[in-house]
Amino acid sequence: MVSLQTVRQSNARLASLPPGLVAVFIGATSGIGLNALQQFAQQAQGSSPRIYSVSRPATAAAHQSVLASLGQSHPTGTYKLITADVSLVCEIDKVVDAVASQETKVDILFMSAGFMAFEGRKDTREGLDPSMSTRYYSRLRAVQRFLPLLNNPAVSSPRVVSVLAGGLERPLNESDLDLRDPSHYSVWNASFHCGTMGTLALERIARQNPRLSIVHWYPGPVATPGLARAAEFGMSPPDQMALDEAGARAVFLATNDRYAVQVDTQEGGGGGGPPGLVPVPDGLEVAKTSAGGIFLIDPLGEPTDNERVLADLRERGVDEAVWNFTQDVFAACQSAAPPVS
Ligand SMILES: NC(=O)c1ccc[n+]([C@@H]2O[C@H](COP(=O)([O-])OP(=O)(O)OC[C@H]3O[C@@H](n4cnc5c(N)ncnc54)[C@H](OP(=O)(O)O)[C@@H]3O)[C@@H](O)[C@H]2O)c1
Repeated sequence: MVSLQTVRQSNARLASLPPGLVAVFIGATSGIGLNALQQFAQQAQGSSPRIYSVSRPATAAAHQSVLASLGQSHPTGTYKLITADVSLVCEIDKVVDAVASQETKVDILFMSAGFMAFEGRKDTREGLDPSMSTRYYSRLRAVQRFLPLLNNPAVSSPRVVSVLAGGLERPLNESDLDLRDPSHYSVWNASFHCGTMGTLALERIARQNPRLSIVHWYPGPVATPGLARAAEFGMSPPDQMALDEAGARAVFLATNDRYAVQVDTQEGGGGGGPPGLVPVPDGLEVAKTSAGGIFLIDPLGEPTDNERVLADLRERGVDEAVWNFTQDVFAACQSAAPPVS
């Protein structure tokens, strides 16, 4: 367990990072993402971060005032709103284009959009369950499309954080990955498919992008508006983490070198150079990645592993099947997307 004190001490060092970190938040209009964005803005103000945050149209006005107030309290940072509904995969392209028109690099991509569809599946116009598109398809699309900016050599330690269910992977319904058959669909099946497909697809991206550090975090129960909504449907787990603690832990995962892949910087190997964000705290070691190359992290910041499930999926090529299926979904979304005006 990483103590909260260690987390806060690390986050306090954000101010001394080189200026001009670029961070993109998707899902930071509420809950863990919003708290992480606020703490990041506060702690990193000394390094003049440029923060982009995505909001769907219905909550854009409220989120704009949150960003405006951060601009007043922490004026060295810049805070830009991008209005897009990320339950639609095609809207991710809009987000990426908006960032790419102003930046040549992204240091941190933080993703926490999502919900559980207690009311049942109600597909978007792309034919996808929005609880699955927010938690899986759009997140994967965002990572894929942001790769050129994350891989810009000017980024010393590119980092992706996905807040969902790292370590809780389960066997998939391999013949119906999207759970289109109503008899396959349930709130929990959708949740497990998003978490498991997320890990497999992110591992594939990690293998092909060795400088990129990818954290898939399971935060455990956190007292957020999302969990308060779940309580209306009878889901009210005990021992909920305070939102402020979860936000601090999220910032730690996004910025501490404990969760950075160790890249050889010398020809012929010979060890890794300093990854480049906040140094690993004394007394802690660099976290271990999964066999597939990403950080599966438990609520208190420790690496977990779920090889009991994941090894079999990889061995049987289910990761490739998930990848190919997802690319087909993206192609279908793209061909159905309205023309850009
Ligand atoms: N809280 C927990 O106990 C817990 C535990 C494990 C995993 N998680 C996962 O962690 C993530 C963050 O959780 P949270 O509790 O912080 O969530 P939250 O407070 O409910 O915030 C969720 C975010 O997702 C966006 N969102 C929700 N429904 C959407 C939709 N239909 N279309 C587009 N955007 C939508 C929200 O936007 P608006 O503000 O516009 O609604 C908000 O930005 C979620 O994926 C959740 O499943 C949470």
